[in-house]
This record gives sequence, C-alpha cells and structure tokens, in this order.
Amino acid sequence: MKSNTEKFGKTPHQPSLWTRADALKVHADDPTTTQPLVSADFPVLSNEVFIWDTMPLRDLDGNITSVDGWSVIFTLTADRHPNDPQYIDENGNYDITRDWNDRHGRAKMYYWFSRTGKDWELGGRVMAEGISPTVREWAGTPILLNEQGEVDLYYTAVTPGATIVKVRGRVVTTEHGVSMVGFEKVKPLFEADGKMYQTEAQNPFWGFRDPWPFRDPNDGKLYMLFEGNVAGERGSHTVGEAEIGDVPPGYEDVGNSRFQTACVGIAVARDEDGDDWEMLPPLLTAVGVNDQTERPHFVFQDGKYYLFTISHTFTYADGVTGPDGVYGFVADSLFGPYVPLNGSGLVLGNPSSQPFQTYSHCVMPNGLVTSFIDSVPTDESGTQIRIGGTEAPTVGIRIKGQQTFVVAEYDYGYIPPMLDVTLK
Ligand code: FRU
Repeated sequence: MKSNTEKFGKTPHQPSLWTRADALKVHADDPTTTQPLVSADFPVLSNEVFIWDTMPLRDLDGNITSVDGWSVIFTLTADRHPNDPQYIDENGNYDITRDWNDRHGRAKMYYWFSRTGKDWELGGRVMAEGISPTVREWAGTPILLNEQGEVDLYYTAVTPGATIVKVRGRVVTTEHGVSMVGFEKVKPLFEADGKMYQTEAQNPFWGFRDPWPFRDPNDGKLYMLFEGNVAGERGSHTVGEAEIGDVPPGYEDVGNSRFQTACVGIAVARDEDGDDWEMLPPLLTAVGVNDQTERPHFVFQDGKYYLFTISHTFTYADGVTGPDGVYGFVADSLFGPYVPLNGSGLVLGNPSSQPFQTYSHCVMPNGLVTSFIDSVPTDESGTQIRIGGTEAPTVGIRIKGQQTFVVAEYDYGYIPPMLDVTLK
C-alpha cells in the first residue's frame, strides 16, 4: 500500500490515525463510558414502522433547531410486516427479527414532530415514492437554511451504488403540526473516487455514506463529513508501524486486520449553497482497527473540534474489540491532529450484558446523546430478545478536555431544541 503521504499528498493535511494501540485501551462496561441498561419493557414509537438512524433538524452550526415551537426529527424508516406471509415462520408466528434485519434494503426517510422534544408524532415520508433515484434512502442530515423554512436534506442514495445527494424542500407549520413540502428534485453531489475513498469496484463491502454538512466555526467555510473506507483494492492495505502504534510486547501480530479500512471523510464546498463539492483526504483513518466509522459528526466546544462516529463490535479487526456505540476524537483545529477521547476513543458503548441494545448515537452540542433501540434480551441467558426499531432513552454526557463522562439519563427519544426559529 502507498503511505499516507503518497496517497493523500502533502497538502492540505495528513489523516489522523486511530491505532491498534489506542483500540487496546477500549474497555466495555466502564461506567463512565457505558450506556445505562435499556429495559425490555420500552415503549415503541409506532407499531406500523421500524425507525432507526435519527437525524434532528439543525442549522449549519450544529444547533438542534425547532420551528415555531415544533421540534422535528428525520428517521430512517421501514414498514413492519406482522401479517406478511414472507415474515411468518413455520409455527405461524411473525418473525420480527428477520423483518428488522431486512430493513436496510427498504429504508426510507420519514419525519416526525413534537411540541415537547419527545412523544413524536409521525409526519410521513419526506420524498414521495419515485423521487429518490435509488432503492434505499440512507442516513444524512436535514439542515434548516433560513427563516423561510427552507431545508436542505443531505442523505445517501444507495442501490445501485452509493451517492451523496441533497434535496431541497420547506418545513411548514400550523397550530396542529408540521409538514414537509417540496423535496422533489434530488441533486447528486459526489461518490467515492477510488483514489482517496474506496469504491464498490475496489471492495463490494465498501462504505460511502452519511453526509454531515457544517460551517466551520473558525474559517466560516462550508464542509461536510461522511463515512468512507480508505481507497485501494480489498486486501491490498498494509497495517504497519503507524497503524499499530505503541503496543506492548506480544501484540505485534495484526492477523487479517488489513481488511478493516474505515475512515472519516471530509469535503469542502466550492460554492455558498453547497451544490459543488471537492473531496479532501480523510480526517481520520482506522486501517487495521475497524471497518466502519459511520455517521461522523462534530460538537464544537471550548474552541475544540470533537469528532464523533459510531461503530460496531463486528467491524473491529483481528486482535482488537470494543462495544457497539459512539467513539470520539478531539483536535484543536479542523484538520487535526485528532486524539482519541478517553485514550481509547470509546465515548458511549453498550453494556456487555446487552451488546445490541442501542446503536446510531448522535451526540448533540448540549451533551445529549440520542440513539435507537436495536434489541434487548428478555431472559437471563440472552437467547430471547425483543426487537426495538424505536427511540432509546437519551443519555447525557459531559465533555471535558480529552475525557467524557456519562452523567444523566432522560426519557425515550428526548431531543430538545437548542434554539427556536420563528418562520416568516
Ligand atoms: C447506521 C447505518 C448508516 C446507514 C444506515 C443504513 O445505523 O449503517 O451508516 O446510512 O444505517 O440503514
């Protein structure tokens, strides 16, 4: 494999590395970085649909924004099929686990609204059937642009391919609720280039998705984070000294970790409107450590850049492991260098007794962390589970320098606004 300098050039920055040595510091069940147990008697948002990735409406500075007193979230959503013969097992029972596991293939973007920042009411689909160019509408970010209520929804159009796209519409409020209008013309922005970011041709398991646009608090320019893998044919990456880091004797063996090549990508807009983008080298790479750094996002606090990203146990490389949850890194400037929070990167992981209880965490600038419930064991042995497909209890964390601490737990799906915009 080419070194980072050869692959990414000398400017504008070198990616920071999440090393194997960093990951060896990840410890499940540390109470300061573990999500409280989710009880199996959780309420569900809807019996008609599953929801998972949750995307609160926000502005380009990252503030969670309500409009005319209405909070709004977007969610990846798929119908539940309790009566579909396809999901009835040989005993005549609804196989909800299979239905849930199949959801990614039929993900659509829906929106919900609320007066209280919880108890969400279903608004409906954001785009009518046939508007989005591909089968799957995968995660992204809805941005409130102005007091006219214009919204740019950045998301990922998947199958065929994976393209970062955006669609513009408008949020309209009444006394009784919220609707989304427009969202009729989807504009493709960019796809993986094969030089910095891995393509489907280089690796059928590639990841390229989850746009998170933002205005840099320092230079004022419009950028976008996204999930990627480092370019190159699958299996061609090498895990050398830099990727390994400072490991103790006996930890030098990297096994087959060359297959894990996650990175956090960044692009810069060439225009004010964010219609024309240039991909830059990744901010962070996890070659030899983990294959997925999903839904990357920032919290700007105390003049620092707190970079968060979600990852799984099953995507860790040989010889390193950690819980499903959200990981974080901090830098003094946008292009790094980034160091892992808490030494390891782990910020909020599932407890080992309930390893799949939640996922897709989003850390908001007020320190609240939203996620969805995946599955919770209903018996001691963990063989019986209850599928979620709904909002998890929100967790509060405190971010202090290079450390984070779990400090609070709130209601299911509690996503309070940080500012309210009165529409003109
Ligand atoms: C995270 C995620 C995203 C993707 C979506 C697909 O839960 O894997 O990266 O956009 O789910 O359903």
